[in-house]
Amino acid sequence: MASEQQTRITWLGHATVLYQTAKGTNILVDPFIEQNPKYPKGFALPSKIHYILLTHGHGDHISDVVPVAKKHGSTVVAIYELADYVAQRGVEKTIGMNLGGTVQLDYVAATMVDAKHSSGAQDKNGTHYVGVAAGFVISVHGSPVIYHAGDTNVFGDMRLIGELYQPEIALLPIGGHFTMSPKEAAVAARLVAAKTILPIHFGTFPPLVGTPAELATMVDSGVRVVQWNPGDTF
Ligand code: NI
Ligand code: MN
Repeated sequence: MASEQQTRITWLGHATVLYQTAKGTNILVDPFIEQNPKYPKGFALPSKIHYILLTHGHGDHISDVVPVAKKHGSTVVAIYELADYVAQRGVEKTIGMNLGGTVQLDYVAATMVDAKHSSGAQDKNGTHYVGVAAGFVISVHGSPVIYHAGDTNVFGDMRLIGELYQPEIALLPIGGHFTMSPKEAAVAARLVAAKTILPIHFGTFPPLVGTPAELATMVDSGVRVVQWNPGDTF
């Protein structure tokens, strides 16, 4: 589906997404692998994951960050407190940033944007403050701008994300219960004005009941909702 110049987007189940640019930069967002019931069986990550982006500190988004970063020598990009948290747990290279900031990752510009969700990291010592939840806008020259929303409800300032970055593709959570469901996601699609919606964060666990088919009935005409399965590449 993607042209030669475009970034390849592979869904690895739940909210784990692999972005591979035409120039060879591999970025993994929210690594949830070992405990992810929807991780595509036997899927091997590329030999090198250059960067790992974390949207927030919940276990279903960060549980495999330390082993993947160690194995691949990845640089982890996250909000400041979460970057510090993973650094204390063995990640050697981190970039701590904050909302509104942009970091240049090889040829990729990653901008941290708002999300409306909680963010705490839980481990055997309790729950830790790791900043607020965020999304990312991923821009690569010559490829459509991508909005990766992270876990979030819809919020009015998604309009600003649309105005500022003009994403053509939006990855939106649709499962409900812990995030928005298709009803809210349809409005989110309108606010950011993306023409292609890649749904994530659904079907992993029983409460996450929202489906792409349901979303497809709710979005404005001209908006395409991609029906994909874990392991599929757009
Ligand atoms: Ni979450
Ligand atoms: Mn989640």
